[in-house]
Amino acid sequence: MDDSDGRFSSFPIIETERLTRAFGQTVAVNALSISIHAGEVFGFLGHNGAGKTTTVRLLNGVIAPTAGAARVFSLDPTAHGHRIRARTGVLTETPALDPRLTARDTLRYFAEIYGVPKQERRRRVDELLEFFELSSRGDHKVGGFSKGMRQRLALARTLIHDPELIFLDEPTSGLDPVAIRDIHRMIERLKQRGRTIFLCTHNLIEAERLCDRIAVMAKGRLLAIGNIQQLSSRLDRGHRISVEVDAADLPRAMQLFLRTPPVVHAEATSNRLADRNGGAQLVLYGVSRHDVPRIIETAMQDGLQLYRVQPEEPSLEDVYFALQEL
Ligand SMILES: Nc1ncnc2c1ncn2[C@@H]1O[C@H](COP(=O)(O)OP(=O)(O)OP(=O)(O)O)[C@@H](O)[C@H]1O
Ligand SMILES: [Mg+2]
Repeated sequence: MDDSDGRFSSFPIIETERLTRAFGQTVAVNALSISIHAGEVFGFLGHNGAGKTTTVRLLNGVIAPTAGAARVFSLDPTAHGHRIRARTGVLTETPALDPRLTARDTLRYFAEIYGVPKQERRRRVDELLEFFELSSRGDHKVGGFSKGMRQRLALARTLIHDPELIFLDEPTSGLDPVAIRDIHRMIERLKQRGRTIFLCTHNLIEAERLCDRIAVMAKGRLLAIGNIQQLSSRLDRGHRISVEVDAADLPRAMQLFLRTPPVVHAEATSNRLADRNGGAQLVLYGVSRHDVPRIIETAMQDGLQLYRVQPEEPSLEDVYFALQEL
């Protein structure tokens, strides 16, 4: 399985070799082998119980593997958890914040715990409040914060010691669209600053938007790994071309394209723009970008007018569901 991507440093910041963790009969993480490079936003995607949180805990040395091994910054998490955790930030699934503290005091408190030098604390706290757009609320108590503000503060707290590697465990779960957009923007800015991000999510759109590479997990097993294009290329039926014809030509177009290899299936779908213009949209499956000339040629030979020909990449959602069925 080729999961290399030339844009990143070849130095793996995380490496696992058949990493396994069982809880009694449940194998939460099953022989996971991955390597993640510095500067990458790596998506760790899977349903409930896929093993995402367990992997984060293993990589930070919070729990030990029952088999296999991991290296984070070339260190073994079981032996050097504290050294690893000094260089990682972990936003847990349900971060607990003290409602009685102000945002500023929350960050000051964590700066102290994480050993940020005293003379740097103030600057660091101000910087984070600003980065997370909480400056105007810095002296307000967390108890009065919205869910989105609390999550931004939790993320700020995760970054207090300026970690190189950041684990985000479902950072947008339960947030409204505006708060989700804010968190996404901040993740993008962290990436621009060269941080490596390990993002656990079951939100496909989030993974597609933010991640350079994605690992798809189910029941502790790695189903696939790669960038969107690499994952998509494993899926024939995900490739499709949508074409627009006159509504009156739809039955004829359908018959014509069904006889045109490698089209495997054709489906009339509604498209508001096409409908408004008296047109109709057909989606042809089993064909991709390089089949566009053939589709156009076939239509021309038959005297069929085409108004639009658009190759569609399979979405991560197509890939995700197809992989679950394998
Ligand atoms: N401490 C534990 N004791 C027993 N079983 C556990 C423990 N932690 C995790 N598991 C089990 O391991 C499996 C993987 O759990 P994990 O929390 O890693 O999944 P996840 O992908 O993070 O799921 P979610 O999306 O629900 O957060 C589940 O079946 C879970 O019940
Ligand atoms: Mg989890």
